[in-house]
Order: sequence, then structure tokens, then C-alpha cells
Amino acid sequence: MPVSLIVLAAGMGTRMNSDLPKALHKVAAAPLLHHALNAGRSLESERIVVVTGHGAEEVARAARDYDEAALTVVQEPQLGTAHAVAQAAPLLADVPGDAIVLYGDTPFIRPETLAAMLAARARHAVVVLGFHAANPGSYGRLLIDGNTLLAIREFRDASDEERAITLCNSGVICADVKTLFSLVAEVGNANAAGEYYLTDIVELARKRGLTAGVVICNEAETLGINTRTELAAAEAAFQARARADALENGVTLTAPETVFFALDTHIGRDAIIGPNVLFGPGVTIESGAEIKGFCHLEGCHVSRGADVGPFARLRPGAELAEDVHVGNFVEIKNAILDEGVKVGHLTYIGDADVGEFTNIGAGTVTCNYDGVMKHRTRIGKRAFIGSDTMLVAPVSIGDGALTGSGSVITEDVPAEAVALARAKQVNKAGLATKLFERLRAIKAAKGKS
Ligand code: UD1
Ligand code: MG
Repeated sequence: MPVSLIVLAAGMGTRMNSDLPKALHKVAAAPLLHHALNAGRSLESERIVVVTGHGAEEVARAARDYDEAALTVVQEPQLGTAHAVAQAAPLLADVPGDAIVLYGDTPFIRPETLAAMLAARARHAVVVLGFHAANPGSYGRLLIDGNTLLAIREFRDASDEERAITLCNSGVICADVKTLFSLVAEVGNANAAGEYYLTDIVELARKRGLTAGVVICNEAETLGINTRTELAAAEAAFQARARADALENGVTLTAPETVFFALDTHIGRDAIIGPNVLFGPGVTIESGAEIKGFCHLEGCHVSRGADVGPFARLRPGAELAEDVHVGNFVEIKNAILDEGVKVGHLTYIGDADVGEFTNIGAGTVTCNYDGVMKHRTRIGKRAFIGSDTMLVAPVSIGDGALTGSGSVITEDVPAEAVALARAKQVNKAGLATKLFERLRAIKAAKGKS
């Protein structure tokens, strides 16, 4: 059965005390919106519609960053969750199958839970995701009779008896697309908040003789973000789970509590991750690679047998082939390092291609930026870049070539050549002793005056 996603992300998020729309605040280096969309990824959704409002353009951009095909619609003004869903109707008029409504600020719904809701659709026209709340606060309450959901009562409209119910509405709702929009069209706003409540569709469905049901999930899944404190708690919860997953998947984490993952971090079995490592977005570490302590990685790929760090930084576009060695205080950006390349110490490699088994000496810098444009450095196979070489790009070093330590290379170096681009050394016999004697005499004379 085809399924589409409707993600509600128009809300302002006043309690975040922020200029940034709430759905764009990040957990695990990804906007909350991406987490919500990620839950639906395994469903291979037919269509994705994100309802935007506050910061509409930025939220729409984030939606397209996640999936180029995502559609967005602006809800203005924001008159409630049913009104928000109704905005998506024109964009889903032609799609068959079901729709699942998610919230942009609720990052932890599991794909398995959404699958369970779709399965429950075989028995009910409307399926609501509920949870038993430790502290039900102002959540909407689920009024049930056996397996049947009778109604969802918003806290502000609930009686004391209804408020005593601890089974709550997560906000996630699933129904056939056409049924959903025809029910939403009937929702009114005669309630305590004067809003169009999506939750009213349960009673409206029952009036039509349709049934509604509940799928129950763990409360942790329904955690919504309203404040910075909740954002920090969500980050901690995400990291705790990501660390446990990594260990379970056969990754060694020497000090798990000090490693931070992104939503899309992939780490292969038998990789070893040292203490205090941070993964930004877009990192893949293959099986058996090692990332030593205090490394910062984003947008990079580390192949089997490679080792990185301690204290290394891999920035977007860093591609390390098998058995590459990147040592301490090395930064790599937008560069391809072929098999067996060694960059041991204190080096910047940016906008470069480095051929297999080339050795890059300490203190090497690819001078890739002229103040206006970026240029590429090409280094062949089995070359040897002497320590403290400045490679002024665009420049290329041939296979098997060598640059002398301290060289400033501004012209291409042919294969197998030695390039020396530094001042010639001059030794002045005995001059050091004379120089020191003179300096000591000056110091002594100053001390007397
Ligand atoms: C909603 C549910 C409540 C449930 C709770 C779970 C309704 C009426 N109530 O209440 O039963 O227990 O979520 O967290 O649905 N949004 C829009 N446009 C709007 C209004 C909201 O896009 O006009 C978006 C918000 O950005 C947010 C989501 O919908 O992502 C939920 O809105 P919110 O105002 O937080 O609803 P609650 O009052 O918490
Ligand atoms: Mg809310």
C-alpha cells in the first residue's frame, strides 16, 4: 500500500527563545525535521509534504536537503493541527493509499512504529499513536473502549475524569489519504483554544461509522522538543542510543560516553573509535578503520585499514582509501588520498589528489586559496613531499618526484624529479661563537649602567 508523509512544521516554537524555526534546531548534527523524515524513510513514501509557516523558506530548504522530491506548503495563519493538515490536501489529491501525519519537532518515532500503525490500518480507518505518559501534563488524552478509540480529548477541553487518563496522544495519525482530508475538512474550531484540532477526526470518523484504533509506543519515542533543555535531553538520548547501537554492531568505542554521532553516521564492524571523537554529518567509516582520540570528522569517507588521529580533522570531501595514515594535527578537506598515503603530522591538504603510497612530510601546506579562488594540487604516486613544503596551487607533482624540505613549489614538478625551491645554505665558520661573545658583552654592559 503506498504511503505519503505529512510533516507539520509551521509552529513558531516560542519556548525555544530563538530566531531559528523550531524544526531546524539540531540533534545529532541534523535538523529535527530530518529526524522526523528519517522515521518515514524505510516506508519509501509515495510523497512527502512538509507544512511550513514560521521561517517557511528555511524549513522548505531543509526539507529539500533531505529529499529533493519533498513538497512544501505554507500555512498562514496557523489555526491548528487540522488546519495545517488541510493545507497539504491539494498536494496529495492524486495519490492513492495512506497518509501518516508526523510533527517536525518530534524526532524519535521509530520506523517500526510507523509500520505497526500501517498494519493496524487493516482493522481501523484511523490509527492514532498513543503512549502511557509518566506525567501526562497537557497532552491530549485517548478515550478508549477495549481496542476502539472513541475520541481524543485535548487537555484544555477535558473533564477532571478525562484528565486522570494517562494514555496520551503522540500526535502521529494515519488514515487513507482521501478519508483523512474529507474528515479534516469537517473539523470546526468550537473548543477552548479556538483552534482546528486534528484530534477531532476520531469522533468525526466514528460518526460516519468508521472505526479508530490505537497503536501504543514507548514514551521515549514521542519526546517532543519545546525548550533548549528538551533539545539537550534529546541530544543526550540520541547519543546514548547511537553509542549502544554502535557497540552492538561490533564497533569498539574505548570511551563510548565521549563519542558523538550524527544522524547519518555509518561505521563498519571492527572499526575502533577512540575517546572524544565527534562525527558531523555525512561520515562513513569502513570496517576495521581506526579513529584515534580527539578527532573531528564531517562529510568524509575512511576506508578499511586506514587510521586517523589523534587530533586530526577530516572536513567535507575528504576521501581516504585503504591503509591511508593521517596523523596528529592534520586537516584534510576536499581531497582524495589514494591507497597507502601517509600524512603524519601538522599538515593541511585541501583541494588535492594524492596518488598511492605518497608520503607527505610534516608541516606541508597545500596553499589552495589565493584570496579569491580555490585551486587544486595534484600529487602523483609514490612521491615524497619534504617537510614544510608549501604547494602553491594550482600545481602538480609527478609520480615518484621529491620536493626538498622547506620548498615553496610554484611550478609543476615532472615525474621522478627533485624540486628544490629554497635559499641555498651558507656556513660561516666560527661566526656563532663571535656573535654570542658580542651579545654577552652588550648584556654585561647594560647590567652595569
Ligand atoms: C498536539 C495534539 C495533542 C497531543 C500533542 C502531542 C492537537 C490538537 N493536539 O497538541 O493531542 O497530545 O500534540 O505533542 O493536535 N502545527 C502546525 N500548524 C498549526 C499548529 C501546529 O504546523 O497551526 C505543528 C507544530 O509546529 C507542531 C505540531 O503541529 O510541530 C503540534 O502542534 P502543537 O501546537 O505543539 O500541538 P499540541 O498543543 O502540543
Ligand atoms: Mg506540542
